[in-house]
Amino acid sequence: MKLYEVTFSPTGGTRRAADLLAAAWPQPPVQVDLTDRTADLSAAAFTAEDVVLIAVPSYGGRVPALAARRLAALHGAGARAVLVCVYGNRAYEDTLVELEDLARAAGFVPAGAVAAVAQHSIAAQYAAGRPDSADAALLAQFGETLCRRIQTGGAMPALPGRRPYKKAGVSGPVPMPGAGCPACGLCAVQCPAGAISAKDPSAVDKTLCISCMRCTAVCPSKVRRVNAAALAAVGLALKPVCSARKEPELF
Ligand SMILES: Cc1cc2nc3c(=O)[nH]c(=O)nc-3n(C[C@H](O)[C@H](O)[C@H](O)COP(=O)(O)O)c2cc1C
Repeated sequence: MKLYEVTFSPTGGTRRAADLLAAAWPQPPVQVDLTDRTADLSAAAFTAEDVVLIAVPSYGGRVPALAARRLAALHGAGARAVLVCVYGNRAYEDTLVELEDLARAAGFVPAGAVAAVAQHSIAAQYAAGRPDSADAALLAQFGETLCRRIQTGGAMPALPGRRPYKKAGVSGPVPMPGAGCPACGLCAVQCPAGAISAKDPSAVDKTLCISCMRCTAVCPSKVRRVNAAALAAVGLALKPVCSARKEPELF
């Protein structure tokens, strides 16, 4: 039996939550990175004996469309899957049921699921520092429950969410380089959507950008940002729905 972590984690929060859960298994997970545009995902050879943690962030209460397309390239081969949705303390709405449907369509057999909270990747004042030590303790404990459930062939409970899923949201803010950008091109290499020109990182294809904030997270000069006024507007709009702490939900 191999343990895999299949993650779409542009700014690392989703990956951190998946790592905390994966720590319950004795072996370290093999990583499959869905943000890597160059990866041949159809080459990942899962078997029915394997356990695969599939972790995505919630974007507008849905699985990011790009992550959904990349998940569809996998061949689950009957491997047991643990579905992980990570959200920025607003809501995850239909993300888990959509992830369940995507996993089943790709040939995985869902055995459990988690909705965890991580720092909001656009409005970083919300859920700052999450997942924290309290999240870590809950996720580690639930990882052990899932290990036992998988060993004994136990079933996953029904997940919250609606089918048909809520309509995908409108596009978010597009980060741009500010003064002092040395045009190193790291953002272009790392962009999961291929939206940034490698020759000229100030050229962004706004039809491809998914506002995932990978480019702002990896910028070594810290000059690639969302416009301050747009960011303030997002922060204000999210205040009523993001401020009160939400706890991980375990299924
Ligand atoms: C485009 C976009 C849409 C988002 N939509 C939601 C949302 O609907 N609800 C929520 O609670 N958080 C939302 N978030 C926050 C992310 O789900 C959260 O920060 C997640 O941890 C990001 O994962 P990452 O750190 O692996 O990139 C959104 C973030 C982005 C970039």
